[in-house]
Amino acid sequence: MKSQQQFSLQKHNSFAITATTPVIYYPKTIQELKSLTTVTKGIFYILGEGSNTLFVEDITPVIINPDFLGINISETNDYYEVSAACSENWHDLVCFCIKKGINGLENLALIPGSVGAAPVQNIGAYGVEIADFIESVTWFDFGKNKSVQLTRQECQFEYRNSIFKQNLKNKGIITNVTLRFIKKWQAKLSYQGLNRLSENCNALDIMNAVIELRNSKLPDPKIIPNAGSFFKNPEVCSDQFNLLKDRFPELPFYPQKNGNVKLAAGWLIEKANLKGYQMNGAAVHNKQALVLTNIESAKGEDIKNLAIYVQKTIFDNFGISLQPEVRMIAEQGEVFLKEIH
Ligand code: EPU
Repeated sequence: MKSQQQFSLQKHNSFAITATTPVIYYPKTIQELKSLTTVTKGIFYILGEGSNTLFVEDITPVIINPDFLGINISETNDYYEVSAACSENWHDLVCFCIKKGINGLENLALIPGSVGAAPVQNIGAYGVEIADFIESVTWFDFGKNKSVQLTRQECQFEYRNSIFKQNLKNKGIITNVTLRFIKKWQAKLSYQGLNRLSENCNALDIMNAVIELRNSKLPDPKIIPNAGSFFKNPEVCSDQFNLLKDRFPELPFYPQKNGNVKLAAGWLIEKANLKGYQMNGAAVHNKQALVLTNIESAKGEDIKNLAIYVQKTIFDNFGISLQPEVRMIAEQGEVFLKEIH
């Protein structure tokens, strides 16, 4: 199997952080995955396109960077099924489907990253999540040394969360994702920025509107290195929400099925006057405060320190402890920001 030693990951993470891995493996087949048993017993990190990862130290763990490609389509009278290998690019898959008249993914256009990474954090945008379409996920289990299929139910999808970030973390790798799209398509236009589109618009119109919206708010990582939303939108209980709503009547909020209320972390960060705030080459983006950027050769640690500063400021102002959506990776594995109480 192809591998490289002392490999710089700067071009392989969208924060453009300089970090070096002692060795990177590029498995292309299940057979090659099977040969990685010694590696997967130690500390390793599976890297897709590196668009949701922050390397916080100069050295990273051993990296596994899968190289599985291919897309298959099948159909019945009622639906299409699209099966894509994990290393396909997510946005290319969205465009491929829309071009073929397979509708459903248009709201998820331009989300950076690979197909295999998409279910891990249940990518979502503009009122749609990948979980809405998942039929099954093919999972190569390092312990069993074989592939298994997980149904949507078994993936335990939640907001930016799944079994792959919980019980199955570091225990295997997603090699394939199968999505199902019912042919009786309906536009999803509930998100504020999309409700200007007419009810008769097609999936391509929606995809173009989403691309325009994203380009207007989110910095292009090729120009200003970043990993999209750095924090998750926090959920608070109704009592805490009511107190905050009294203090800030204009607070945006999204009631949840469990009675809690989700708040917009970007709004909180902006309200705390941190939009555009800069510290040691790291910055809070000036058009979307949920995005942290590397504006001047920041180190991973600088971005992490800015995240800690944002987290603390938001706690001091609102009593809410933000948690990152981005995964922070040190030489000895994943690290987390402390919850503030
Ligand atoms: N807002 C502000 N100031 C800001 C940013 C947002 O006041 O700097 C307010 C907005 O005006 C709006 C609310 O906060 O009232 C929500 O903002 P927005 O619609 O931009 O969405 P978001 O909650 O900030 C989430 C996702 C994005 C996704 C958008 C659109 C998370 C963590 N982020 O952001 O996902 O594109 O919704 O659906 O859920 C990503 O994960 O990388 C990502 C970009």
